[in-house]
Amino acid sequence: MKRLLTAYVLLIAATAWGQRQEITLTDDWQFSRDRQSWQTVSVPHDWAISGPFDKKWDLQKVAIEQNGETEATEKSGRSGALPWIGEGHYKRKFTIPSDFSGHAELLFDGAMAEPTVYVNGQEAGYWAYGYNTFRLDITRLVKAGENRLEVDLKNLEESSRWYPGAGIYRPVKLILTPQETRIDNWGITTTTELHWKEKGKDVTKFVVEVPIINAGKGKPVSVSLITPDGENINCWPAPMRGGKAIGSFIIPNAKLWTPETPYLYKVMVTLYDGNSDKNKKLHDDFGKVIDEKTFNVGIRTVRVSREHGFQLNGVTRKLRGVCLHHDLGPLGAAVNKAALIRQIKILKDMGCDAIRTAHNMPSQMQMDVCDSLGMMVMAESFDMWISPKCKNGYARFFNEWADKDITNLVLANLHHPSIVMWSIGNEIPEQGREQGRLISIRLQGLIHSLDPTRPVTQGMDHAESSIKCGMAQAMDVPGFNYRVHKYQKNIEQLPQGFLLGSETASTVSSRGVYKFPVVPNDNTRFASWAEGYDPKAIETADGQCSSYDVEYCSWSNLPDDDWVWQDDKDWVIGEFVWTGFDYLGEPTPYDEYWPSRSSYFGICDLAGLPKDRFWLYRSHWNKKERTIHLLPHWTWGKDRKGQVTPVFCYTDVPGAQAELFVNGKSQGWRQFSDGRLNRYRLHWDEVKYEPGELKVVVCDAQKKPVGEQIIRTAGKPHHLQLDVWTQQSSHSPLPFEGTGVSPLYADGQDLAFVTVSLVDKNGTLVPDAADQLDFKVEGAGAFRAVCNGDATSLEPFTQPTMKLFSGQLVVVVQAAKQAGYLTLTVTDRQRGMKEKVVIPVG
Ligand code: GAL
Repeated sequence: MKRLLTAYVLLIAATAWGQRQEITLTDDWQFSRDRQSWQTVSVPHDWAISGPFDKKWDLQKVAIEQNGETEATEKSGRSGALPWIGEGHYKRKFTIPSDFSGHAELLFDGAMAEPTVYVNGQEAGYWAYGYNTFRLDITRLVKAGENRLEVDLKNLEESSRWYPGAGIYRPVKLILTPQETRIDNWGITTTTELHWKEKGKDVTKFVVEVPIINAGKGKPVSVSLITPDGENINCWPAPMRGGKAIGSFIIPNAKLWTPETPYLYKVMVTLYDGNSDKNKKLHDDFGKVIDEKTFNVGIRTVRVSREHGFQLNGVTRKLRGVCLHHDLGPLGAAVNKAALIRQIKILKDMGCDAIRTAHNMPSQMQMDVCDSLGMMVMAESFDMWISPKCKNGYARFFNEWADKDITNLVLANLHHPSIVMWSIGNEIPEQGREQGRLISIRLQGLIHSLDPTRPVTQGMDHAESSIKCGMAQAMDVPGFNYRVHKYQKNIEQLPQGFLLGSETASTVSSRGVYKFPVVPNDNTRFASWAEGYDPKAIETADGQCSSYDVEYCSWSNLPDDDWVWQDDKDWVIGEFVWTGFDYLGEPTPYDEYWPSRSSYFGICDLAGLPKDRFWLYRSHWNKKERTIHLLPHWTWGKDRKGQVTPVFCYTDVPGAQAELFVNGKSQGWRQFSDGRLNRYRLHWDEVKYEPGELKVVVCDAQKKPVGEQIIRTAGKPHHLQLDVWTQQSSHSPLPFEGTGVSPLYADGQDLAFVTVSLVDKNGTLVPDAADQLDFKVEGAGAFRAVCNGDATSLEPFTQPTMKLFSGQLVVVVQAAKQAGYLTLTVTDRQRGMKEKVVIPVG
């Protein structure tokens, strides 16, 4: 092992046709639903997101068994009420260099669904699962010059419990390597051994194993590790073992990857054509470079144990996680880096440190973002195995494809430090059967054989039966969905000595909507199959849930109910809240109510705007930043005057004591106490509404004031406030930051998220504003989408007009490929208001 300051220069040796080329096939795709009319699109692409919304798409008459339903009823928005069913066809051309004689491969990161791929009219391959990444060797199909690529997709009705998206919704790459002997992108394993002693020093041992395909005997390989400070540690020649080049490094003062310190090292692997001669030095001639690849890694360990629970780098911590579906709200399933960064930054602001990719394989782009921003990941695979949860779901494929799918998931993602756990399934109907136990053992065993470094879990919602048949005991990490009241009984029967809240809460709310009286309830009154059903409730429903965050489902609970277990029991190793963001489809509790078409579970709404629940989680999870958050808004009509309007305050202040004032009149002191809503929330239940000023003063345990928040009754609507966030912003994506405008990259992909709020002359939000706004983008960019977070809105996301919901919405604008400036103009025709923002691109 040699330590060099700069090794890049040495590695640029002479090549024949050239170096590896990885070309992302983004532009110039032709897309058609019927092979008759074609339109030019870029990939990632979701053909269904433009709508129109319609009840008829995927209208399902089903009983959702996992929700406890026994009778089939009509579910209208279950998969988003968007036109994702049917066929889709894509084609484009690509070029192969005239002197190419190496290996050609296509890498799909996922295509919805059942992609069949053709190159020059010949079938190159097929993959069944729309969520998985797959590669196709197309060496024999390509020719020098122009080549034709075609992809056929088909989506069946009743194949999903949520909106799956439609089309080539994740990137496609053409990978050309000069020779058949090449570095494999997949199967790169890293192992870390902390606190290795060498020459009396406390060092870290880090080993990276890189597969070399067709490794000819004696082909020399160099493996370099480039530290976050740019220092290069070189392993030359890297020994080969089992077809893998082994880079082994002893690192003093290693910078460990954690969510708080997401240090990334780079590994650069270089493959030479000469003879491997141990006596040769790095500077010597060792043949031409035939392949080279650089990728990010993190140095960290993951462990679960009875004594210490979940540990990252030997430090016990509880996972403060959220579940995420893959759609990005108004962008649909089409994956986008800026949108992913925004999601992860919002979650980190809340103190969240982990996501669960519910209930399927993640995109590589998302894993890259989690690596670099510091977000742990439970990478999940399936929502069903052999018994279907919906008629045409993955159960059609499981027997033939499950092992192939797991293999691709693991091999493609092995090197991501963010992934700390794999999941083989969610609420699998085989729980409680011997068959379920056996499949669990098989899939977990397969993962272990591919990756000995991470534990495996699954989310089980039938605790008793999955324990009875031994399935829960067989898992590295027994994960339980909901039913916290069973945790104690579960733990007593689990040899592992710990358990994970693999899915928690499922509390439902709509941003800015408050309902009275404020009473915790499980919403069964809206479900015709449930005992508490009240036909009048659904007839008079408005399709919204209360942001007092006291509503949940018959199988679920409130955030507070989970925290009691998370906080009081060492053996509960963390939780994954359902969900971080609202998603398209599954509009529980309004599954039977039209026009509900997206979820209410999100801590943030479909536009990514935080609901009040965001501040509740933040007060509990983010101990670094101050949270003092009052609700509800204080702008009510005449009919609320003098009415009881409970006030809640969420704060992180330890041992907080707080006094509330309405127009200067004290409403009394509150402090945390025992009881369902009392341990984590301060609340004044008897406050009578009067317009003016609501103020809370929060003191510490010694009654010393540490902060306050004031909210006011809004005056007349005065202007539209535009808050811009881009991935280059130094401020958080949360609105009302009042910071400047940061630029967009001129790459044709980057997005700015502009939160539009209707405010009075003092900047106070007008919380019931529902004005129709129009959007125009000029200059170096284009309008991409808009979303107001209203789960019942049927306005299409991709038309440049939409109503405000609870006073706000988010406009998404996309950068051009040319540098310049783009201008977004937002118009409120009804009030004659117009506001502009200029965003630099370049
Ligand atoms: C769970 C399920 C999730 C979602 C959630 C809604 O049982 O795993 O996919 O359906 O319920 O509460």
